[in-house]
Formats: sequence, structure tokens, C-alpha cells
Amino acid sequence: MLKIRIIITTVVFFAVALLWNQYGIEAAPQNQSTYVGSEQCKSCHEQEYSSFQKNAKKAHSYDSITVMRKGLTEAEFEMCFECHTTGYKKPGGFRSEQETPHLKEAGCEVCHGPGSVHAETGDPGDIKGKLTFKDCEACHSSERVAAFKYKPMVYGGAH
Ligand code: HEC
Ligand code: HEC
Ligand code: HEC
Ligand code: HEC
Repeated sequence: MLKIRIIITTVVFFAVALLWNQYGIEAAPQNQSTYVGSEQCKSCHEQEYSSFQKNAKKAHSYDSITVMRKGLTEAEFEMCFECHTTGYKKPGGFRSEQETPHLKEAGCEVCHGPGSVHAETGDPGDIKGKLTFKDCEACHSSERVAAFKYKPMVYGGAH
């Protein structure tokens, strides 16, 4: 009788521990970082920052959609934000040009993830350094890009 009780107690204990652990892992994000904008990376990563501003089209991605804005409804224009700004519809991400001007371009954090904690600590363990294709494909999907470009092209008188 005692043996069975011990077995049951042990099984229940591990089941609870497992659920707890799983719930804990699910509930907690990688860290508590939110989006801060590329400007906040400049002081420690001068080189990456200036080369990004100079060479990357992402550093002007909001201009690209502003140019196309005429002829789009407000709702259609907002669909561009998902890829052409930083962290749209994610916690602490881009909301609007007025409210979050520091996040209006697709900045460092679209690839490296939200960086508030890392920008405070300077600890490389607090930021995503190794990237895979998965980190790009949310925005770089040829069909999706084509679908979004089609309408502005028509309105822009591309032909
Ligand atoms: C207070 C200084 C500081 C700020 C601000 C800062 N970093 Fe860093 N970062 C460091 C240091 C120090 C390292 C480690 C040495 C290195 O790789 O340059 C590092 C490393 C990195 C790495 C490489 C991580 C790895 O796994 O090797 C990335 C990516 C990075 N930072 C991105 C950013 C981004 C994006 C921002 C802005 C949101 C930012 N950093 C802001 C200090 C900073
Ligand atoms: C949040 C969406 C988003 C993510 C994630 C993203 N990109 Fe982009 N990328 C864009 C947009 C938008 C442009 C076009 C900017 C413009 O021209 O207005 C772009 C442009 C580019 C270009 C064109 C050339 C240039 O100089 O900018 C390259 C190359 C590129 N991205 C590579 C990548 C890679 C590699 C990754 C993953 C590690 C990635 N991108 C992740 C949105 C994204
Ligand atoms: C699914 C992600 C995504 C959405 C949504 C999106 N774009 Fe883009 N856009 C990209 C990427 C990635 C590029 C660069 C790669 C390419 O040209 O194929 C780009 C490039 C562009 C360019 C070309 C810039 C250049 O320098 O050549 C323009 C203009 C543009 N987008 C406008 C828009 C507009 C306007 C909207 C909203 C109606 C929009 N995009 C929605 C991902 C997106
Ligand atoms: C298009 C995606 C993309 C964007 C945007 C981006 N990076 Fe990176 N970054 C990478 C990739 C890819 C690596 C190389 C990772 C590896 O070695 O696997 C990298 C590496 C780094 C490193 C490590 C040291 C090095 O140079 O290899 C730092 C620091 C860094 N990035 C900072 C920044 C900062 C600051 C910005 C914005 C000004 C930025 N990155 C924007 C993709 C991006």
C-alpha cells in the first residue's frame, strides 16, 4: 500500500513539475526586451550603424511606402507597416509615425529582435546574433511582396 502511494506521489509530482516547466517556458518570452529603434544602437555599434544608414534600403523603408501612399486607403497603407516598419503589432513596436517616429523604418531590430535589454547591458547574450532564413521570410516572401506592390503600381501609373 505504502509503495503504491509513493509511486503515485512521485508520478503526480513529476507531472506537475513538467506542466509547470512547460507553462513557465511558454509564458516567459526570451527576455523582457521591447523595441528601442536603431538610434539606440549607434553609441556602441558606430560602424554597423553608419553602414546600415548609408547602404541599407531598410533605413529608408518608410519613405518607400510614403511615396506610394496616394491612392491607398488608410487601411491599405497600414498593411505596409508590417514589413516597412519595426515591430508593428508587436509589444512596444511601431504604432504610427506620430507616436513612434523612432521605429518608422525597418531597423536593426527587425533582424536582431527587440533590443532594450541588450542596449542597457551590452551583453551579447541578450540579443539575437546568429540569424537564419526564418528571420527574413516573414517579410521576404516573393508572393507576399508582389501582392502588396501590385496595387500601388496600378495607382502609380506604372504602365
Ligand atoms: C551599451 C553598449 C551597447 C548598445 C547600446 C548596444 N550594444 Fe550590441 N553589443 C554590445 C557589446 C559590448 C557586444 C559584444 C561585442 C560585439 O560583438 O561587438 C554587442 C554585441 C551585439 C551583437 C552580436 C551578438 C552576438 O551574438 O555575438 C548584436 C547583433 C548586437 N550587439 C546588436 C545590437 C543592437 C541591434 C542594438 C540596438 C538595439 C545594440 N546592439 C545596442 C554593446 C551594445
Ligand atoms: C520586418 C520585415 C523585414 C525583415 C524581417 C527582413 N527584411 Fe529585408 N527588407 C525589408 C524591406 C521592407 C525592404 C525594402 C526596403 C525599401 O526599399 O523600402 C528590405 C530590403 C532588403 C534587401 C534589399 C537590399 C538593401 O540594401 O536593403 C536585402 C538584401 C534584405 N532586405 C535582406 C534581408 C535579410 C537577409 C533578412 C533576414 C536576416 C531580412 N532582410 C529581414 C523588410 C524586412
Ligand atoms: C510582406 C512584407 C511587405 C509588405 C506587407 C509590403 N512590402 Fe514593400 N517591400 C517588401 C520587401 C521585402 C521589399 C524589398 C524586396 C523586393 O523589392 O522584392 C519591398 C520593397 C518595396 C518598394 C520598393 C523600394 C525600392 O527601393 O525599390 C516599395 C515602393 C514598396 N515595397 C512599397 C510597399 C507598399 C506601398 C506597401 C503597402 C501597400 C508594401 N510595400 C507592403 C516587403 C513588403
Ligand atoms: C537584414 C538583417 C539585419 C539588419 C537589419 C541588421 N543586422 Fe546586424 N547582423 C545581421 C547578420 C546576418 C549578422 C551576422 C550574423 C552571423 O554571423 O551569423 C549580423 C551581425 C551583427 C553584429 C555582430 C558583429 C558583426 O558585425 O558581425 C552586430 C554588432 C550587429 N549585427 C549590429 C547591427 C546593428 C547595430 C544594426 C542596425 C544599425 C543591424 N545589425 C542591422 C543582420 C542584420
